[in-house]
Amino acid sequence: MSLLRTKNLDDMIAHSKKPGGLAKVLGPFDLVLMGIGAIVGTGIFVLTGTGALTAGPALSLSFVIAAVACCFAALCYAEFASTVPVAGSIYTYTYATMGELAAWMIGWDLLLEYGLAAAAVCVGWSGYFQSLIAGFGIVLPVELTAAPGALPGVSTWINLPALVIMLLLTAMLGWGVRESARLNNIMVAIKIGVVLLFIIFGARHVQPANWQPYMPFGMTGVMSAAALVFFAFIGFDAVTSAAEEVKKPSRDLPIGIIGSLAVCAVLYVVVSAIMTGIVPYQKFLGVDHPVSLALQYAGENWIAGFVDLGAILGMTTVILVMAFGQTRIIFAMSRDGLLPARLSSVHPRFQTPFFATWLVGIVFGLIAAVIPLNILAELINIGTLAAFTLVAIAVVVLRKKRPDLPRAFRCPAVPVIPALAVIFCVALMSYLSLVTWIAFGIWLLIGLAIYFGYARKRSLLHPKA
Ligand code: ALA
Repeated sequence: MSLLRTKNLDDMIAHSKKPGGLAKVLGPFDLVLMGIGAIVGTGIFVLTGTGALTAGPALSLSFVIAAVACCFAALCYAEFASTVPVAGSIYTYTYATMGELAAWMIGWDLLLEYGLAAAAVCVGWSGYFQSLIAGFGIVLPVELTAAPGALPGVSTWINLPALVIMLLLTAMLGWGVRESARLNNIMVAIKIGVVLLFIIFGARHVQPANWQPYMPFGMTGVMSAAALVFFAFIGFDAVTSAAEEVKKPSRDLPIGIIGSLAVCAVLYVVVSAIMTGIVPYQKFLGVDHPVSLALQYAGENWIAGFVDLGAILGMTTVILVMAFGQTRIIFAMSRDGLLPARLSSVHPRFQTPFFATWLVGIVFGLIAAVIPLNILAELINIGTLAAFTLVAIAVVVLRKKRPDLPRAFRCPAVPVIPALAVIFCVALMSYLSLVTWIAFGIWLLIGLAIYFGYARKRSLLHPKA
């Protein structure tokens, strides 16, 4: 039965209000921007090329489907985040509802999601960065441009820019949340500006003929693309991981989650419709900068340059929020005894989990530097979809177990909305490849081994001898 032991919710809520913990500095506006900061990145700037090849002009429909799935999950997230405003996101919610083993597995799953997403986006960032400095005539030695084996036929050692950007952002996160959130806000504003620039300048060049046939690969193509571009929405959940640093969590968290998701959904649908309206979808083959390619195709070269710069900034904020979310999950797991205590120590001056921040930065910076991550989007997606499925189930469980808890935000139409969240997420997962399923299974098995070999005995809930 110890596998099903749950944490006491009332203690957790009381604990989050105690002084001396993480600094409470974030407001609703910070959270919406933090969400957008985590959401708009590699998905829209890089993966839309492959998405267009998979779905054709119906890519915009794929974005709608992925957005609907996220929306159902977001409503569940928002209820949880407003009820249990403690660090650790869905990991913590699962601990309070479905027991320790489920919580450990979901925490382990989130380490995969946030860590690899941060690393993958560092690699994408590096590509854009190298192309930007190449415009000024600066070319890195080829050995330092990519992970070993990343470029067929070329001997490469390390992706240096990916490592450097990860370490720089780690230094910022370790320095303090307020400073990082402020910088994030500026970069997000630039990023949205660049996307709007694309919409305004791109819209004039749309040739409706390019939208025909709308679904060259039928619904299968649309669903497969939706399962891929789902990556573009990942990140709104990172908002919840900042719960303990929010001034008024019951009001601010739902605004942060749903607000950022809604803004991004609208931007993505419009951008993908315009992109496939300017360029015949077949032309996206092998393209890793589809958004700026569309502008070049339309002869808007200056604007394309701005879009490249915006993409770099956009990806910077994604890495920042993903790494932030990662450290807060580790913080929560460590505080519960499931990971070594050192990982939840708070720096006396900066009030941040300094050690965990640097550990994450170095480990995932190295992963970004030495592992080619181009196929990992799917792995990240499967982990996230699994997490969303669990949060939807957990909302229903908590309503049954603790109907008395004050819920500042209530997910509408329970259990219909959570059920729809589960159906949409599982449907999207079913369109991911077998290799992805196998890799995900292996990751979960490693997690199980660590739980039974280490975490279970060290859990704060484990009976003392
Ligand atoms: N949604 C994030 C991105 O697209 C992970 O980069």
